[in-house]
This record gives sequence, structure tokens and C-alpha cells, in this order.
Amino acid sequence: MALVVSLALLLPTSVKPAKESTAHTNTVWPTGYVTCPQNATGLIMAMMTQNATVQADTDRHVEYTSSTHAPAASTEEIEIQEVNRTITNVTFGGHGSKVVRFSGVSNAAVSPSNEVFVADTFNRRVQVFNMEGVYLRKFPTVVSVEGSETMNPYDMSIDGKGHLWVIGETDSLELILVRYTKTGRHIITIHPPSLFTTFNDIAVDTLRNHVIVIAENAQGARVSREVMVLLYNGTVVRKFETRQGWPNFITVDRNGRYLVTDVYKTRDLVYVYSETGQYQFSFGSEGRISTPMGICVYSSGKFVLVADGYDVSLEMFTDSGEHVRRVVPGVMFTGIAVAPGGQLVLVNEIHDTVTILSRY
Ligand SMILES: *[C@@H]1O[C@H](CO)[C@@H](O)[C@H](O)[C@H]1NC(C)=O
Ligand SMILES: *[C@@H]1O[C@H](CO)[C@@H](O)[C@H](O)[C@H]1NC(C)=O
Ligand SMILES: *[C@@H]1O[C@H](CO)[C@@H](O)[C@H](O)[C@H]1NC(C)=O
Ligand SMILES: *[C@@H]1O[C@H](CO)[C@@H](O)[C@H](O)[C@H]1NC(C)=O
Ligand SMILES: *[C@@H]1O[C@H](CO)[C@@H](O)[C@H](O)[C@H]1NC(C)=O
Repeated sequence: MALVVSLALLLPTSVKPAKESTAHTNTVWPTGYVTCPQNATGLIMAMMTQNATVQADTDRHVEYTSSTHAPAASTEEIEIQEVNRTITNVTFGGHGSKVVRFSGVSNAAVSPSNEVFVADTFNRRVQVFNMEGVYLRKFPTVVSVEGSETMNPYDMSIDGKGHLWVIGETDSLELILVRYTKTGRHIITIHPPSLFTTFNDIAVDTLRNHVIVIAENAQGARVSREVMVLLYNGTVVRKFETRQGWPNFITVDRNGRYLVTDVYKTRDLVYVYSETGQYQFSFGSEGRISTPMGICVYSSGKFVLVADGYDVSLEMFTDSGEHVRRVVPGVMFTGIAVAPGGQLVLVNEIHDTVTILSRY
């Protein structure tokens, strides 16, 4: 079973498993990710009332009404940049290695200053855009200060200082954690504690300056998964084993509680642990999600968002686990990030595109 998750990371263009839950045993898992700022508020408003959504659009002063070619923010040639802009719906990308093209785009993250960081996996770089989809810059995902070796970036999250944390795979197939400044300067590389450990999902607790990963330890036939909480310098604050079957995605709320989705959803979708790792409760039986592929929590609005790997939809709960509603963005995605203002950044690794939606 350990192999399945590792393979999913190695093969980001893997197919989604068949709808039947019996397909679990021999299917490569989809690599879906959700990243979100800890205190996003806009999404809650957007979801609560249509009026709030309209207000959010007005605030952004976006006036685009037709397809245009975005101005380049660098001198680099971008003749193939295709940005289709409407007020609420921006899509860009396509397969390739030039800027604004992607190869196996895995995930995105949006900074507090609304810059969209995209993990351009097989081009081994991060590309940065603004919320209108205009290209700003790129940097290679180097694994050290020297900067000659790079890695395939998969999952990422942004910390309280606006720095980027990236899980990536090196040439020696090690999954490591690297912290960069927003312009791509390498700060630190954190290796897993042993050869048998992989980092599978990352979240950042910007209020406590913690990096949280799900670490999978596979030695022989014995596989265990635990939550590891690290300081920004890599020091382990704590780690704890979860009581659920197969934890796959994690997020942390304002109170320091960890919310962890479960692949098999034997009983519930989301398990909640205290800051010290004590199991508190689980929820999510009412949701229609069959495969959780990511989770976000909106502390201020007390809402939890879980993405569905089958139906490309999102399910919304209160933080006490009551089901609120289902959100269907209308765009296929394999990864999703939420902007501080509530816009959704949807990543599609099959078509190598990124869509930014502010109304959904
Ligand atoms: C979110 O947090 C950032 C820094 O952590 C802060 O600058 C910002 O004002 C906060 N936003 C809201 C809506 O609380
Ligand atoms: C929300 O919008 C509807 C029209 O779409 C309007 O009738 C209603 O008064 C608005 N509500 C608020 C609180 O602005
Ligand atoms: C851009 O988007 C608009 C609205 O969704 C659509 O009508 C138009 O065909 C798109 N243009 C291109 C070039 O894809
Ligand atoms: C990491 O930071 C903590 C707190 O500042 C400190 O106690 C610890 O020694 C540091 N560890 C390393 C390896 O620098
Ligand atoms: C966004 O635009 C694309 C291309 O025009 C279209 O196919 C899609 O339905 C739109 N999505 C939403 C949610 O408006």
C-alpha cells in the first residue's frame, strides 16, 4: 500500500481510480492537493451569498471582458502565452517548457500578496503569476544553495513570512522539503528522517510557525503514517500516529488543531486531532466525497473544504463537522489552491493548465 502513494507522487499524470471503491487495491492514486491560507475569509463570503461574490469582484477592479494576451512582466519572450480573461474566469498554460507552459503541473499556492505559485513539476521550476493570470517570474527548484541540482516539485505551501515550502523529488528519488524565498532563493533543505520515510503532504501553521507533513514509513511489509510537526529550521516539535486507516491530506486550523482526511473513508472523511496530537472527533459521513484529495480550513469563518478526487467537486462543512453544501467549480482539476480573497486556483495536470475562478 505504501508503494501506491509513492507511485502517485512519482507519476503525477496518473489516471484517476475507477469509481468503484473496489478499485482501491491496484490503482495508482490521483495526486490531488489543496493549499490554502490559514485565514482566508473571501471564500466564506463567496459561498454564503451571491451578493458577497459580486462585491468581491468589484473590489478587485478587474475589467477584462475579452480574451487578451497578457503583458509579460519580464523581458523573456512569451509569444505563446495564452490568457483567456473574463471577470471571473482565467485559464492559462498548456503543455511545454517555455514560460507559461507547464509539464505535469502538480499544485499551486497563493501568497498573502496574491501571487500564484505554480509547481511546474517536470520543468523543475516554480512559475509565479498574478491573480489575473499574468506571468511574473520563475525560478528553478534547486535543492541546495549551490543550485546546480534541481528536483521535481509536487506539493507546496506558503508560510507566515511569505516563503514557499515545497515537497519535491530528487534525482535519487528522495522526497525532500525545501524552503525558498518568494523570488526563489534557497533557504533550507530538510531530508526525511530515514531512507524509508517519504513526505506525502504539507501544510504550514502560519500562526505558530510550524511546518506539518504526513510522513510515511515503509520498512519491509510494515507501513505506518504519522503526522510530523517541524520548526522552520527542521527541528521536530512532535510527531504522532493517527488512529485512522490511511491519512492522506492534512491542514491546521487557527486553534492548532490538525484535520486529516482519510483515503479509505471507512467511517468518516476527516479526523480531528488536538495541537498535542490527541484524537478529538471525526466527521464527514454526510458528504458525498468518495476520495478526499485535499483539505482546507477557514478559521475565521469556521468552515472546512474537502476536495473530491472523483467528481471534481468540493464539500463544505462547519468546523464542528456539519455538512453545509457542495461546490462544483465547473472546471476539472487535479489540485486546488485558495487565495486569501477566496478565489480558487484550479490546477489540471492532465492538460497542464491553471484556472483562476473568483465566482463559483
Ligand atoms: C491573514 O494573516 C496575515 C498574516 O498572517 C495578515 O497579514 C492578514 O491581515 C490576515 N487576514 C485576515 C483576513 O485575517
Ligand atoms: C442581494 O442581491 C439581490 C439581487 O440579486 C437583491 O435583491 C438583494 O437585496 C441583495 N441583498 C443584499 C443584502 O444586498
Ligand atoms: C475565452 O473565454 C470566453 C468566455 O468563456 C470564450 O467565449 C472564448 O471563446 C474564449 N476564447 C478563447 C480563445 O479560448
Ligand atoms: C531550531 O530553532 C529552535 C528554536 O529557535 C532551536 O531551539 C533549535 O536549536 C534550532 N535547531 C537547529 C537545528 O538549528
Ligand atoms: C470558464 O471558461 C471556460 C472557457 O471559456 C469554460 O469552458 C468554463 O465553463 C468556464 N467556467 C466557469 C465556471 O465559468
